[in-house]
Amino acid sequence: MQTNVVKQLNQAMQTVMKTARVQVIAKMGAHLTVAEKTSRRDLVTNVDHSNEDFLVHQIRELDPDAHILAEEGTGDQVDTMAGHVWIVDPIDGTMNFVHQRNHFAMMVGLYVDGEPTLGYIYNVMANKLYAGGPQIGVTLNNEPLVAPANLDLSAGLFGASAPLLIQNRFNMQTVVAQSLGPRIMGSAGIQISQVLAGELVGYLSYLRPWDFAAGRVLAESLGLVVTRVDGTPVDMLSSGAVLIATKRAQRSILAIV
Ligand code: IPD
Ligand code: CA
Ligand code: CA
Ligand code: CA
Repeated sequence: MQTNVVKQLNQAMQTVMKTARVQVIAKMGAHLTVAEKTSRRDLVTNVDHSNEDFLVHQIRELDPDAHILAEEGTGDQVDTMAGHVWIVDPIDGTMNFVHQRNHFAMMVGLYVDGEPTLGYIYNVMANKLYAGGPQIGVTLNNEPLVAPANLDLSAGLFGASAPLLIQNRFNMQTVVAQSLGPRIMGSAGIQISQVLAGELVGYLSYLRPWDFAAGRVLAESLGLVVTRVDGTPVDMLSSGAVLIATKRAQRSILAIV
């Protein structure tokens, strides 16, 4: 896509994200309808649905021919990354949203013929919007975000996932032991944004496409690496363990997992 078109789309999407944030905060104060999807740890609320409806509708207005993959099913059945594919997570960290009314994000990623193009991670309550892509750079609330230092695992905090750490999947306890310590937020979006900001040297979790689509765009734009645990490229249409890290931390982590 031409850079001026990407810039226009970026401005429009930032406005959409800000509107969505105001709506979500307004609805959060009222009674939430909470349902279990697959288990008591897998929740969905009326706000996940209404925010997804809003985001999908706005994306259709901006990019009518695009395909949209959205977590709660409002979008399209997407089985190819050809053309414009938007990937939407309306509330990331629904458990936090329900129980803390805090520490949740909304995320949108755009891929064009499989190429990471635009990404948005909005930490709603902190009011931090990470936005951008490889052609236009990454901003945090409109200020350019400087690429994080290429620190090794031993020099930084590590973003863990509770189930992987408890079960020691991928040797995560050793990964954590070699870092300065684990941090667990319960929102992939917030943890990925902490890697973008240089607050964590890496994050490893079992993720679905909407959990890391936006984060991959932003991370790769800042020189971070996003791979599967064996170091192979991620596939935006499948789920699995995904590592987002500095180049040096990634090398150390791949040697452990
Ligand atoms: C979840 C959160 C959580 C991660 C799960 C995700 P959701 O997303 O990001 O931190 O561990 O794998 O499913 O369902 O709240 O959007
Ligand atoms: Ca969910
Ligand atoms: Ca979600
Ligand atoms: Ca999610």
